[in-house]
Amino acid sequence: MSRPFETIVDARLSRRSILTGLGGVGATVMLSSCGYSGAGLGSGTGAAAPAFAFTPISHGIDQNHHVAPGYTADILLRWGDPVIPGAPAFDPMNQTGEAQSKQFGYNCDFVGLIPVSRDRMMLGVNHEYVLPELMFPDLYGADGKLDRSRYTQRHSEVERAAVGISMTELRREGARWVPVVGRMNRKVDMLTTRVGVSGPAAGHARMRTVADPAGRTVIGTYGNCAGGLTPWGTYLTAEENFDFAFSGGLPAGHAETVNHRRFGVVRDDGKPTQPGQGKLSWAMFDPRFDVGKDPNEANRFGWIVEIDALDPNALPKKRTALGRMAHEGAETIVNRDGRLVVYMGDDARGEYLYRFVSRDRVSDDRAANADLLDHGVLSVAIFDEAGMRWVPLLHGTGPLIADNGFHSQADVVIEARRAGDLLGATPMDRPEDVEAHPTNGRVYVMLTNNSDRTQANVANPRIANRDGQIVELIAPGGDHAADRFDWEILVLCGRPNDPKVGARWNANVSTSGWFSCPDNCAFDPAGRLWIATDQGSNWPNSGTADGLWAMETDGQGRGTGHMFFRVPAGAEMCGPRFTRDGRHLFLAVQHPAADGMAEWPEFGRRSTAVDPAHRWPDFQPNMPPRPSVVVVRRDDGGVIAV
Ligand code: FEO
Ligand code: CA
Ligand code: CA
Repeated sequence: MSRPFETIVDARLSRRSILTGLGGVGATVMLSSCGYSGAGLGSGTGAAAPAFAFTPISHGIDQNHHVAPGYTADILLRWGDPVIPGAPAFDPMNQTGEAQSKQFGYNCDFVGLIPVSRDRMMLGVNHEYVLPELMFPDLYGADGKLDRSRYTQRHSEVERAAVGISMTELRREGARWVPVVGRMNRKVDMLTTRVGVSGPAAGHARMRTVADPAGRTVIGTYGNCAGGLTPWGTYLTAEENFDFAFSGGLPAGHAETVNHRRFGVVRDDGKPTQPGQGKLSWAMFDPRFDVGKDPNEANRFGWIVEIDALDPNALPKKRTALGRMAHEGAETIVNRDGRLVVYMGDDARGEYLYRFVSRDRVSDDRAANADLLDHGVLSVAIFDEAGMRWVPLLHGTGPLIADNGFHSQADVVIEARRAGDLLGATPMDRPEDVEAHPTNGRVYVMLTNNSDRTQANVANPRIANRDGQIVELIAPGGDHAADRFDWEILVLCGRPNDPKVGARWNANVSTSGWFSCPDNCAFDPAGRLWIATDQGSNWPNSGTADGLWAMETDGQGRGTGHMFFRVPAGAEMCGPRFTRDGRHLFLAVQHPAADGMAEWPEFGRRSTAVDPAHRWPDFQPNMPPRPSVVVVRRDDGGVIAV
């Protein structure tokens, strides 16, 4: 009989602090068994993590962004700002797809920085999805009511040009980085960009469509949530909630029914969905988004896409070896044996945590890495009391055989979720960003929340989990390719000291040091963890807008957060990304004035394009709220939080 979860959670939470309490001896035993390098954060050397040297801000919510005292947050790029030469000025009342295809897109999420020289770098930004009700004032009648009959092909084209990726050159000017509208820039969108398909699913019958009978070229990438960077300077973007793009239904008994239900592309009850009703409206003007007319198009989304940030003409590629799911991100680390390891979460309630290990070693010759992501082993995580296992998703092994509908590795990657089911993967509380510490073998998994959870498991110990948790994986000896890892819980998020919440923080956490719903994360150059939150409309649960927290992972302070940045009301915090010198921090403010504005006493009603809750960051009467990337710098030019 298994131990009660509380006992297990206590054990998983307390081991590090017990070891700290025992001093060097206990710590050394544990650290040697795990083979930490001890670099930077290892408590085995007795060296605590460097303190985060800033004065935290408080919880709260208003129409402005806030950053710790002594820091400035500059607005870098707003929705509608020019990216491609020739881009017209942003005109919210006269938007077109052609204009938007040259302008910075909507709902910025992942931020990647690819250095070119000391004073130049490429900034890649994901534009995850669109909010037509906040984007288009001309969808509203004179009475202020939304009139869906006003939605036209033009709106659809703007939307398809407003998602995807903006790649923008930045140049250093004094203390600031500024965007350059130049020939290095590109937009990768859903309107016109050709994207290749590579890996085991390329050309497979299930990837062939009306417009692409070869199954090797897709127009665009969608649902670009978080992502990652490769050591050879390419940008990885994760296609997350791609089901949103598709409406309609399948004929009874269609071969893709089980697959499309599993991903929410079609409804479980078999009834077709209508464009614009819980789904985007794109199928009204492009039949590839109508599942009944082109049933395989949805199989061409839900992948990790690799984009060469340094060559605006290079064909982006969907790397199917990394599996198809609601991909949150794809952060990478070069393993000690030289192979590339990619950690990935499938962000949906009860979905799984994945890892890809490349077959080949990363080469110093950039060209030799061109197809590195096409060959390797995709695995899924199973947690237990003793540790965790990575179980490979390999066709022909275990249950992944023809009897179960897996006729090739293409079937396995296209239906990675169902493969994970059959392998007994551990259902997680919506895995968001997963990032490996650069040196010490630990990996941090953001589990954002899971209101649907009725049955607890060791790594997801709270039912109806509104607040999320952070799980710390420990690669044995720093070997990220190992079959078995150890793991611990860093924190159970949410309001401290409320038995109904069941949060677990460091006992000394401050009144603004705790948070709910961890999502994106990043390490700074000193190897310290920073966490961004996305509470959606549930922000009243914590009483604060989303933000960015510095998070202590070692020593006496383990499990303590420090609030550094707060977004304007209705927004979600994305990015974050530090420059290599640690002097600039890039953050993305997604969907300002959108989520939970009816619950915000200052506004108290639904926020719309004609009556937005506020108009951050311009606060001009004819300018809508604009998702934007901001850059934080220390006023004295120093390294952030040092
Ligand atoms: Fe797009 Fe899972 O956040
Ligand atoms: Ca996210
Ligand atoms: Ca999110």
